[in-house]
Amino acid sequence: MRKMLVVAAALVLAPPVHVAQDLGVPSKEGLVVCTSAPACDAGASVLARGGNAVDAAVATAFALAVTHPSAGNIGGGGFMMIRTATGEITGIDYREKAPLRSSRTMYLKTDGTIDPSLTNTGYLAPGVPGTVRGLELAHKRYGKLRWREVVEPAVQLAEQGFTMSAGLARGLNGQLAGRMGKFPASVAAYGKPGGGTWAEGDRLVLPDLAKTLRAIGSEGADVFYKGWIADRIADDMKANGGLITREDLAAYQAKIRTPVRGTFHDYDIYAMAPPSSGGVALIEMLNILEPYGLKAKGPLSPAAMHLEIEAMRRAYLDRARHLGDPDFVTVPVAKLTSRDHAKTVAATIDPAKASSSVELGRDVVTAPPAEPDETTHFSVMDRGGMVVANTYTLEGGYGSHVVVKGAGFLLNNEMGDFNKKPGETNLRGDIGTPANLIDPGKRMLSSMTPTIVVKKGKVALVTGSPGGRTIINTVLTVVLGVTEFGLTGREAVDLPRMHHQWLPDHVTIEKAGATSDILAKLKALGHDARGGGGQGDAETIWIGPDGTPYGVNDKRSADSKAAVPRSLTAPTGGR
Ligand code: DON
Repeated sequence: MRKMLVVAAALVLAPPVHVAQDLGVPSKEGLVVCTSAPACDAGASVLARGGNAVDAAVATAFALAVTHPSAGNIGGGGFMMIRTATGEITGIDYREKAPLRSSRTMYLKTDGTIDPSLTNTGYLAPGVPGTVRGLELAHKRYGKLRWREVVEPAVQLAEQGFTMSAGLARGLNGQLAGRMGKFPASVAAYGKPGGGTWAEGDRLVLPDLAKTLRAIGSEGADVFYKGWIADRIADDMKANGGLITREDLAAYQAKIRTPVRGTFHDYDIYAMAPPSSGGVALIEMLNILEPYGLKAKGPLSPAAMHLEIEAMRRAYLDRARHLGDPDFVTVPVAKLTSRDHAKTVAATIDPAKASSSVELGRDVVTAPPAEPDETTHFSVMDRGGMVVANTYTLEGGYGSHVVVKGAGFLLNNEMGDFNKKPGETNLRGDIGTPANLIDPGKRMLSSMTPTIVVKKGKVALVTGSPGGRTIINTVLTVVLGVTEFGLTGREAVDLPRMHHQWLPDHVTIEKAGATSDILAKLKALGHDARGGGGQGDAETIWIGPDGTPYGVNDKRSADSKAAVPRSLTAPTGGR
């Protein structure tokens, strides 16, 4: 993080100097860029065995479920974007679903107010997990190695254990003393054997998770959705007042979604379709911004930042107005991603003055609540040129904090991504717009934005990020960095990020970008501009002008890595 700030500060003070630059890790043999080094190594070992990008992505996802328990998962859900070497692009939707017994008012107290404790933690918080079905679907369609082979590195990590990083030790100690400590199965899985607190360098062995992963590897995804793992989930739910049943699990299917597509200068942008709001909002913002010629203003100029904030404000308002699960509501994707719409929206932007979010969104006034910062994105490329952008999540860090008894994995708390109070949208942070209300079997709206950028038929950038609603704006900054400002992938990832989500009507800017001069100039334009903490974790692959791919890990994550294919040695690291 500190290193990033230094690099970013240099960008504020001077134009990029292209001498002896850190461009990332070059590799034409394949790359896995992710937030937890041993999981990146697991994915890269699959590339070394001759696996393709999807094989490596599936291996990385399973391995992150072991080494990065705050967000890596088999008990959550997400989205995978795949581009084959021949240019076929697919989106895999493995977002969680509302259980069949869920209802629109299930998170309301008797006085009609929302009870956040029910969506934050515990057995009512999880949606029906999608990860294992999603990885199965990706592998069935595109994988080259056997399923068992791609699950195996994760089994090994869980069974033999791996060396904990300082971050993971700190995270687990905090959890065990806090929310996870309330659930005996969570303590049994993640507590230090013999008691005491974890320290950097300790070995974390997860025998129940190893057993579960081994079963998934040898029996396939059905064991999770229809076999003994499904039984464990359903029994646990029943015993503790949760809603997920065997029927929910047996019915769960991952879906192929046609990615949303936009163009920006001479780039093609492919991003995740609904039920993610990410692709639609990203393309809407790019369409709004393209005519302004931001490059001449500079990436950290108040003039460019003002226009970006105004684009964010408007795209997030459209998100609140229209976005939800397309299997349940009609989402006007074509309209929202059209240039005509961008033109109409841009006509309301005053280049010299901030708009008012409340005035713009009188029809829907709402103040979306802050979302916790835990999800994880990774990017993969193989030597044949196939790429994968995958973002998946448990929602909050460690999800519902509930480990399934005897099965060793954490369940998500994704139900909190639904609008929980029908009809009430207010400045306190409750949204009640219809598109994202809870319905049995519906997928909750997401902001996850795995993205693939193509130039003249060749991949130029693979990116994505965690960060709740900030995700879309993090991806916007990385994409603009490369496609508008002509930065390298490393510079674009290091660039300070900012976030405006329509309401609350303020913009937060990462420290390196929040200089007193920039804050003063944005305030003079009428923005409530604030210095923020770190935003996102964009594990990225960038293809240089000579066609060399570079793995660009995000230095905001201490344990991140760009791994190149090699055989796996002793598992280490982790967070
Ligand atoms: O799907 C979503 O948009 C959220 N559940 C993602 C949560 C998230 O990114 C939290 N952390 N980084």
